[in-house]
Amino acid sequence: MNEKNRPFLKWPGGKYKLLDKILPKLPQSHTWVEPFVGAGAVFLNVNTEQAILNDINPDLINLYQLIKTEGNTFIDYASQFFNKKNNQEKKYYQLRTAFNESEDIVLRSALFLYLNRHGYNGLCRYNQKGGFNVPFGRYKNPKFPQQQLLYFHQKSQRATFTCKDYRQILKNLKKGSVVYCDPPYVPISESASFTQYSGKIFTWQDQQDLAQMAIDLSRKGIQVLISNHDLKPLREIYRDAKITSFDVARTINCNTQKRGPVKELLALFT
Ligand SMILES: C[S@@+](CC[C@H](N)C(=O)[O-])C[C@H]1O[C@@H](n2cnc3c(N)ncnc32)[C@H](O)[C@@H]1O
Repeated sequence: MNEKNRPFLKWPGGKYKLLDKILPKLPQSHTWVEPFVGAGAVFLNVNTEQAILNDINPDLINLYQLIKTEGNTFIDYASQFFNKKNNQEKKYYQLRTAFNESEDIVLRSALFLYLNRHGYNGLCRYNQKGGFNVPFGRYKNPKFPQQQLLYFHQKSQRATFTCKDYRQILKNLKKGSVVYCDPPYVPISESASFTQYSGKIFTWQDQQDLAQMAIDLSRKGIQVLISNHDLKPLREIYRDAKITSFDVARTINCNTQKRGPVKELLALFT
């Protein structure tokens, strides 16, 4: 793989490792739209004049907004939480509580970055009351992602960030925009649970609405690429699209015996 720009966050379902498969499928455009931006692996590696980047997670979008507008001032402030003393279980839980109790956007954003790099597997999970509840990650020496943050700051000057349900974003797009949708995956088996990034489950109805909106947009001259697992019911709802499929060595099961390649699909609505 050629040198690619890495996101500064770890993110469940992040597409950094799949960029070589995704980038060649993307049409060029002056306006790049990602309704499910997550860590932004794809956005960081496309050329575009402007970008509309959305995610339903307000902690993520507040953090992005601060990096865009405050740059070094915020990056320096956030870096102070990365030290040996803070990489201890007891301290991690204190800072997690401080995050959950704070309404200060700057402190919450810096701690969100700290939690992402010190929490278990880079998970982003909230309880029903909206409290971040990921356990301590036990990493030896979590690194502060200085270079990736600076690159994000630079690249985000052309981006507008929003925190809405994806339907709101897809409703108001201009002709010529290109949309890349990377929704939460459909669980691969009945026992696998839905991934929650914001305390709200992404349902089968949400997957169906997305597919229908992609059809409607392509009819208006807006091309849409969707990533998902390669599963029969998804192929069914993406039947109007051009589908490509490939193997991914991805961990999908806590039981290591059941780990194995999962097929991934890309559905292009043109
Ligand atoms: C698979 S991740 C995207 C990963 C991203 N492509 C990357 O490379 O990091 C899915 C994202 O969708 C967001 N999400 C979940 N439900 C949503 C909704 N209804 N509208 C918008 N975003 C949503 C989640 O917060 C999560 O960040």
